Formats: sequence, C-alpha cells, structure tokens
Amino acid sequence: MFYCLGIESTADDFSVGVASSEGEILSNVISAYVPSEGGIHPREAARHHVKVAGEVVAEAISKAGISSREISVVAFSQGPGLGPCLRTGATVARAIAHYLGVPLVGVNHCVAHIEIGRLICGVKDPVTLYVSGGNTIVTAYEGGRYRVFGETLDIAVGNCLDVFARRAGLRQEHGKPFGALIEELASRGGEYIPLPYTVKGMDMSFSGLLTAATNLLKSGKYDLADLCYSLQETAFSMLTEVTERALAHTEKGDVLLTGGVAANKRLQSMLRSMASEHGAEFHVVPKQYALDNGAMIAWTGVLAYKCGLTLPIERSYVRLRWRLDEAPVPWVETGIF
Ligand code: ATP
Ligand code: FE2
Repeated sequence: MFYCLGIESTADDFSVGVASSEGEILSNVISAYVPSEGGIHPREAARHHVKVAGEVVAEAISKAGISSREISVVAFSQGPGLGPCLRTGATVARAIAHYLGVPLVGVNHCVAHIEIGRLICGVKDPVTLYVSGGNTIVTAYEGGRYRVFGETLDIAVGNCLDVFARRAGLRQEHGKPFGALIEELASRGGEYIPLPYTVKGMDMSFSGLLTAATNLLKSGKYDLADLCYSLQETAFSMLTEVTERALAHTEKGDVLLTGGVAANKRLQSMLRSMASEHGAEFHVVPKQYALDNGAMIAWTGVLAYKCGLTLPIERSYVRLRWRLDEAPVPWVETGIF
C-alpha cells in the first residue's frame, strides 16, 4: 500500500488531494481563485496559487491523516491548461518530490477527470462527456487510448454559459457559478427561441450560439428566462447528440458525465433519457470530484506510478496543449483498474 499526493493547478483552482494505491481518497482540498470581475487572468490566478499552495498542501496531508514521510509519489497536472497556473503547480510538485526524495508523475488533466469518475462511480468502460469552463469533450477508451469522438471547435460550453451570464448582468452571489444562475433562470422560462445549433461531423461550435443569444438579449425583445432556457436547450441538445453518436458507435454500456457543467439537472436529464434508450447506464460524477480537484490527480498518479510512468525532474516541463488522446493510459488495458 502506498500514498500519492496530487496537485491540480490547470486554471482557476489550486487543489491538493491524497489517494491510496487501493483507490481510497483520503483528502481533497480545493482553493478557488475568484476574480474581482470579468474572466480569469492566468497570471492573477497563478499568484493566488502561489499564495495558498503551502497551506493547501499542509491541509491535504493533515486531513489525510498521514505524515508527509508516508507519501511515496507526487503527481501534478502537467497539462493542458494555462501556462502560469500549470507552472506554479509543477514547481510546488517538484519541490515536494525533491524534498521527500520520491518520484514525480505528470498527469493529463482530462485523463484525470475520467479516472476519478470511473473510480467514484464504479464504471469500467464508459463514454464520457467532460464539460467545463475550458473543455467540451466526448471520449471513450478505444485502441489503447482515450479517443476523442467529439469536441468543441471554439469555446467550451461552460464558457459560453459564463459569458452569456456576464453579458446579461447576472451577479455571482456566494460564489454560485454562472452556469447555475442560468440553470435557475432557465427553469422559469419555457418558450423556445430558435438559436443556431452547430454540430459539424462529431464536433460542436458554441461561439455562434453565444453571439446569437447575445444579440437577442441586446434587442431587449425577449424574456431573459426564455433566453436562458433556449440557450440551455440548444447547447445541451448538441452535447447529447454527439454523446449519443459516440455511444452508438462504441456500443459501450455506460455514459459518464463530469466537469463543472455536469451539475446541471437539465443536461443530466437529457443524457439520462438518451442513455436509457440505448440500454446504457447513466452516471454523474459528484461535484467535489467533477470540478477540478487534486484527488483526481492523486488517483491518476497512483495508476501511472503502478505502470512505472515517472518523470525525471529535469523533464517535468508543463504541456499547455497536451491532448487527451495523446496521453498514455497503459493501466486501462492491463486492468490494474
Ligand atoms: P477546466 O480546467 O476543467 O476546463 P474550469 O475551471 O472551467 O475547468 P470547472 O470548475 O470544472 O472548471 O467548471 C466550471 C464551469 O461549470 C463554469 O463554466 C460554470 O458556469 C459551470 N457550471 C457550474 N455549475 C453549473 C450548472 N449548474 N449548470 C451549468 N453549468 C454549471
Ligand atoms: Fe477540468
């Protein structure tokens, strides 16, 4: 039995978790950077990460109930993500690994979302829809890697919701995400206003949808609740269509939904009914493991370490555009998990 400390810092969250080699999550501490206004600025977010790193690491170790000397491996999210944020996490990880004299593992952030979902939901081989502020990916294991069946050609679906919410003047109270504010408003709307639905091949585009919704908003002719409703219906139908096609192609028995947007009940219900029409089971990753979190990096670090995928410090550079389908995942085939 061994323990892995995992560090996540691809974007606005700095998070540290501890996982055991047996798949127990011992801690998962998340510190979110909330910009005073507008979107996130990578250097500002990185400054936040530097400030909180020490205390988040200490809290994750103490909550795990272990001593730092019991850590056998340190994992960090190596990419994809924002340069300054990734580099901060990598620096912290290198320092800890060096100090403890233990190996370092670089984890692909998107792979980590899938692995923690498989662990927590107990699903072996799903079609996964990963939807967040920075990612929109439909993926499943095929031919030795997580193949990307569909993705966004421009902005992520969460970003589309966030920007629309900001343009509509919605205010984040008590740290409630913009997507959740849109969801609340949408539940009060009901009249569908036509918006551009863009699926090209298996890929999706959300920027035209955002522009069109913004124009309707500015025209002042429509009820905001109806606009939110229509935005959700359009965007989520696109996601469901692409997920359905991946499911039909792969004939897998499970659909796994993760990322920040996974919290949305309307998206869940669309996917649930689609999955049941295909005789597949539907699973939603619980929030603390669906948002960016250190536990997912720790657990994927365990899997990678078991396969000997360690990284010498001098080659532990970050990979800003490291695609999911380029990441080695030898543990899936070997059935380690
Ligand atoms: P990533 O690095 O994974 O791209 P992120 O920092 O955007 O990350 P998350 O915290 O996973 O990551 O997701 C945030 C997104 O989730 C935001 O776009 C937010 O609006 C959206 N979101 C949160 N709750 C809801 C909800 N109930 N409905 C729709 N979207 C939601
Ligand atoms: Fe993420």
